[in-house]
Amino acid sequence: MPRRPVILEGERVFLSPPTKEDVELLLESINDKEVTQYLNLFPRIMTREMEERWLDNILNGREKDLFFFSIILKENGSLIGNSSLKVDFFNRTGRLGISLWRKDLWGRGLGRESVILTLDYGFNVLSLDVISLDVMEFNERAINCYKSVGFKEVGRKRCRILRGSKKYDLIEMDMLRDEFNEMHESKVMEICSDSIRS
Ligand SMILES: CC(C)(COP(=O)(O)OP(=O)(O)OC[C@H]1O[C@@H](n2cnc3c(N)ncnc32)[C@H](O)[C@@H]1OP(=O)(O)O)[C@@H](O)C(=O)NCCC(=O)NCCS
Repeated sequence: MPRRPVILEGERVFLSPPTKEDVELLLESINDKEVTQYLNLFPRIMTREMEERWLDNILNGREKDLFFFSIILKENGSLIGNSSLKVDFFNRTGRLGISLWRKDLWGRGLGRESVILTLDYGFNVLSLDVISLDVMEFNERAINCYKSVGFKEVGRKRCRILRGSKKYDLIEMDMLRDEFNEMHESKVMEICSDSIRS
């Protein structure tokens, strides 16, 4: 496995810039409805060309307000998912996105760790004041994960998601910078204080 640059590192995962090769895992998962049922792109069929074009936009910096991370498992250096922050710099707000493409790794706390690293980047590198997200009401694993990180439900958009013949609500959650920094130790602060000391 080639070594990848570390943006922010947790106990079991680190955030790294995406690479062209990441498209392989993305392609495997992006048409798997066990994964995509929770995402907005359901029920689109995604071709290699569509995925490559989408990733190419990110790799070449054309998505200026999107900070996009590959989530790497430390024990073997493999890609397991992606997280992102869509940023509104004027209002200092961000929207969080995350998917662990490796569904065999769901429910082991790796999502929680990846969300915390991504929020740390958003709050303590980009200086965002608030980060929000939308989650489908039937995505209990994600809701539990976000709550355990400190997100609070702030509202419901009713009947926004169709699955089968049923409509579901979208739950909006958010978190403020102070709330995050009270609950979690920032890795960014460590980097700053180390470099100031030396
Ligand atoms: C959402 C996602 C990132 C969460 O990551 P994860 O590693 O699976 O989640 P974690 O293990 O960190 O946390 C899951 C929480 O839900 C609980 N949980 C685990 N399996 C569960 C299940 N089947 N149903 C409900 N809760 C569950 C865990 O106990 C944990 O809660 P706790 O921290 O209070 O104990 C990941 O599951 C994923 O990528 N899912 C598919 C795509 C997706 O849903 N993206 C988010 C769209 S908003």
